[in-house]
Amino acid sequence: MRRSCTVLISTVVFTLLLAVSGVLLWQYLPEESRAKVASTFIDTEEPDYQFSQCLPTDANCCNGLNNTCDLRLDEVLFAGLHNAMAARENGFLLGANHDLSMEKALKYGYRAINVDFGLCSGVPQLYHGSCELGTRNPVDLLSHIVKFVGENPTETIIITVQFTKDSGETDPANIATLDDLVAVVNAVDGLVEKLYAHPDLSEPWPTLRELQTLGKQIILFHYNVDICYESGCPYGFHDYFVYAEETEFELVTLLEVEDTTRSCNVTRGSNVATFFGINLFLTLPSRDVAAEVNSLPFLQSHVSDCEQRNEGNLANIVWVDFWTQGELPVFVQRRNHNRGVHSQQRHER
Ligand SMILES: *[C@@H]1O[C@H](CO)[C@@H](O)[C@H](O)[C@H]1NC(C)=O
Ligand SMILES: *[C@@H]1O[C@H](CO)[C@@H](O)[C@H](O)[C@H]1NC(C)=O
Repeated sequence: MRRSCTVLISTVVFTLLLAVSGVLLWQYLPEESRAKVASTFIDTEEPDYQFSQCLPTDANCCNGLNNTCDLRLDEVLFAGLHNAMAARENGFLLGANHDLSMEKALKYGYRAINVDFGLCSGVPQLYHGSCELGTRNPVDLLSHIVKFVGENPTETIIITVQFTKDSGETDPANIATLDDLVAVVNAVDGLVEKLYAHPDLSEPWPTLRELQTLGKQIILFHYNVDICYESGCPYGFHDYFVYAEETEFELVTLLEVEDTTRSCNVTRGSNVATFFGINLFLTLPSRDVAAEVNSLPFLQSHVSDCEQRNEGNLANIVWVDFWTQGELPVFVQRRNHNRGVHSQQRHER
């Protein structure tokens, strides 16, 4: 009797100790190891939200919905990954924008990919601010997008490439040019064939159905480099801020995001632009703030506020950090479904 009682007590104490040390370990684990734990978890899971709401047999499906195929590209809303290359999973640590990779985000319904492109010791790389903080091979990242649209012929993807230079770089010979990006694009198997090339600003953008039929499912934009619009861009290249306008991107605190006079203020882009991008992240990436601003209620009020403050222009891309937080793809599909319904009503009238 006494013996089993001792065993019981020591078992309880042991279990308690285990639990306490587990909690302590988790708290004091470096953030990157915690992200690794989180990533092995999500790795084994299928997305809990089914982005594609079409039946597998439905040919009349575009970006996961069966009523959006007749929307023009600039009438659709895209879930966007800000600095998509900079994921902890890909070796970015200090200042990483995401825990998990772009490849996984595509599975979860993200369809707009933003990357920073520049040279590191003369070699084209994707990095943020400094080559020291992490790099991704641009050919590798882009070839996974090509693979994805090959396997998912109903999906259309927007890529925006921001040209950057290493914070320590002063030699102009080490600053990337459009030609460096052309060389990268040409090195990606099958990418050029998938690129849609828009003739010019006066032409309406094609519908998702038209892009799908042509098999031109990737739209490539670039910025922070010489404008090529007047002299003619390389095939499939488009100056982003000729076609798009975007809200303030230098927000430092959650309070600044909540102040929509500031966060919804359009600070870049052309006044004839038809694409409207909303930047919804902080200058120093924060997982906690992402959990707040990527949540459905926040997105619903923030995106509507930004649209109202900008003459009712409908948003086309919402750019976020820490895509594993919140529910941007859910928000995007609800909006796109409504846009599809309204457009059908317009056509029936
Ligand atoms: C879209 O799919 C749903 C089922 O998921 C179906 O009820 C609806 O009729 C379809 N709409 C169109 C326009 O095909
Ligand atoms: C809006 O942006 C412009 C620059 O494009 C700036 O001059 C102005 O101060 C900004 N307004 C607010 C409220 O941030």
